Amino acid sequence: MSIYQFAKSIALLAGQRIREELSQELIIETKSNPNDLVTNMDKATEAFLVSQINEQYPDHRIIGEEGHGQDVTDTEGYLWVIDPIDGTLNFVHQQQNFAISIGIFYNGEKYAGVIYDVMNDKLYHAEAGHGAYLNDQQLPALKDTKLVTSIISMNPNWLTKERTRDMYVPIVQAARSSRSYGSAALDFAYVALGIIDSYITLRLHPWDFSGGLIIAEEVGAVVSNQLGEKLDPLHSNSILVANPGLHQELLNDYLGPYRSRLSEIHQGQFSNR
Ligand code: IPD
Ligand code: CA
Ligand code: CA
Ligand code: CA
Repeated sequence: MSIYQFAKSIALLAGQRIREELSQELIIETKSNPNDLVTNMDKATEAFLVSQINEQYPDHRIIGEEGHGQDVTDTEGYLWVIDPIDGTLNFVHQQQNFAISIGIFYNGEKYAGVIYDVMNDKLYHAEAGHGAYLNDQQLPALKDTKLVTSIISMNPNWLTKERTRDMYVPIVQAARSSRSYGSAALDFAYVALGIIDSYITLRLHPWDFSGGLIIAEEVGAVVSNQLGEKLDPLHSNSILVANPGLHQELLNDYLGPYRSRLSEIHQGQFSNR
């Protein structure tokens, strides 16, 4: 079994475990603030994925949101970047609309991405250079859209923040419509699927975007931060993902005028870059 096949198989297994245990009472804790939740299921799922990877590939390294991986500071060899439950708030409140996300890199280069929409049993996956799939259906290349006929996804938190409101409100106003799904991994998957045209957010961690980055780029999406710079699997960043035409329109016409403010925000937010 290839590493790619193995990644898909453990995502499916982990999802099955979540579905089976959904009726059990959750133990919910808070992390950085009262709305930043983690459950025993996030932790158990990450522990399961990490133990499977360690057993099969003891020399591979792992970054995981809940800390079961290692403290990784370089991209040598195989690197797995995993989010056991992306969309924990949806998981807690809705028991749906969450995903398992896995991105795998080899010497810093994209190798494969897997996003498993657990409750809908939809597996988005891609091996770099070989196209992206939803289950066994290959996804077509994205077509360019204009903002005026696009649906974009944006977290209302950024839209209402004093510091970012004037940057983002014109985008929402000019778009055909906007959505907020509460799972960054699913946002990437939906851009890859072409059901939304762009996902724009100001702060994601590597486990939020690594799987999605690899899948979305396989259908021709452009993935960058909001300054147009490349993402890397070791650092948090802002996100602008869209089909090429829309990515350029958003970067040039909407975010470009705020470049100096965005640079400042990046320096403050991601000072460890
Ligand atoms: C969160 C989700 C959410 C995004 C947050 C992430 P988590 O991940 O992806 O959509 O807006 O920035 O932290 O904590 O549920 O894995
Ligand atoms: Ca979290
Ligand atoms: Ca996440
Ligand atoms: Ca998570």
